[in-house]
Amino acid sequence: GDFKRIKIAHGVDTRDQPIRVQGWVHRLRSQKGLIFIILRDGTGYMQCVLNGKLTQTYDALTLTLESTVEIYGTLKALPEGKSAPDNHELVADWWRCVGKAPGGDEAFTNRVAEGADPSILADFRHLVIRGETASAVLKVRAAVMRAFRAEYESMRITEVTPPCMVQTQVEGGSTLFKFDYYGQEAYLTQSSQLYLETCLPSLGDVFCVQESFRAEKSHTRRHLSEYTHLEAELGFVSFEELLEHLEQLICGTIDRVMADPAASALLKQLNPGFQVPKRPFMRMDYRDAIKWLNENDIKTDEGKDHVVGDDIAEAAERKMTDALNVPIFLVRFPREIKAFYMKRCPEDKEFTESVDCLMPGVGEIVGGSMRMWDAEELLKAYETEGIDAKPYYWYTDQRKYGTCEHGGYGLGVERFLAWILNRWTVRDCSLYPRYTDRCTP
Ligand code: 4AD
Ligand code: MG
Repeated sequence: GDFKRIKIAHGVDTRDQPIRVQGWVHRLRSQKGLIFIILRDGTGYMQCVLNGKLTQTYDALTLTLESTVEIYGTLKALPEGKSAPDNHELVADWWRCVGKAPGGDEAFTNRVAEGADPSILADFRHLVIRGETASAVLKVRAAVMRAFRAEYESMRITEVTPPCMVQTQVEGGSTLFKFDYYGQEAYLTQSSQLYLETCLPSLGDVFCVQESFRAEKSHTRRHLSEYTHLEAELGFVSFEELLEHLEQLICGTIDRVMADPAASALLKQLNPGFQVPKRPFMRMDYRDAIKWLNENDIKTDEGKDHVVGDDIAEAAERKMTDALNVPIFLVRFPREIKAFYMKRCPEDKEFTESVDCLMPGVGEIVGGSMRMWDAEELLKAYETEGIDAKPYYWYTDQRKYGTCEHGGYGLGVERFLAWILNRWTVRDCSLYPRYTDRCTP
């Protein structure tokens, strides 16, 4: 007959018609002369049942998990109370094994993987991603990227693709990955911010999705050596407008993900307690955060009280965010602990118009600021920081050829996901995470 080839996600639409599905044996069970297969094709899961002489072939008798099969049959609705995916079952007329997996070793399928040793899981990430949890995270990730782009589209903000190979640093020399570029020193980008700024006069407000690279000495659950960086730059804005935009981006994106039935179902499955953040986000001045930490007896990593001028460490930041348990815009950091390009507060030049967005469970997921928009002031800032202004001529020119008040931010996509999906580490939110000592697979 004419068996229509379908993807599992479309299965229910083709009930009672002859269909053909292809995929991997996700689960396998024999019972009373029947073989039950939960088939996985990446779009979903489908229960398939083989009966009669279909179960008596050599391939049927030696079938293993993760083997690939093609099954021809008719999809039937099951009576209430059966626990098959979507309450449907494909009754097979014919099937064949396409590629046999060795079987016997279930250690790297999702059933055992969840509890296995982290370094083994990392070595076998290529198999771990077949599991239900890992693939659900990656699916939500795809939906989140779609939602970010849709949100920017609705704001009329244009996407650009800045280079990864650069000759200027953005966030300090200590985390630069250096490499030889035809005999010259070059770096893997830490942030596309400087390039985005140059796009304002060309395209207006812009955003990009680009990998950023940080040679992190810190081996923590929220630091990667390569991460996906969502960055935007807005022209003719005030600091308060920048904060409001960021709130809209985060909440608008989450609304879109929640309105996507497949993505929101996975999100609820991964993080049943997720609560859509309420606007406006709490605004907290950096100096008030220092006060709050001391009042709540949260010490620095060295066990001391916090003082104004400290870079709030990850542990203290997370404790505060978890205690307050709401999104926080931490604003106006001291000049000395922030990057050279940040605009100073008009009321006190020792502080900057800067923001970190902190989320429960993760801490900082966004870093942003208003930018110095006066060329002379920027030239002085290079000097103070000991930065050679020459390679930055194009960035300085942005101030010379028609400057404006502007600001932007960078959002760590893996951190955003770790927050909404309640993952212990950002490593679970990256397809193939890179971190200290890990560049494989
Ligand atoms: O705070 P950061 O360093 O800010 C910048 O790079 C700015 N130039 C961005 C801009 O204004 N366009 O990094 C921004 C965000 C952080 O808040 C964090 O979410 C993420 O990038 N991030 C990392 N994520 C994973 N691993 C790392 N090593 C990260 N470093 C930063
Ligand atoms: Mg930061």
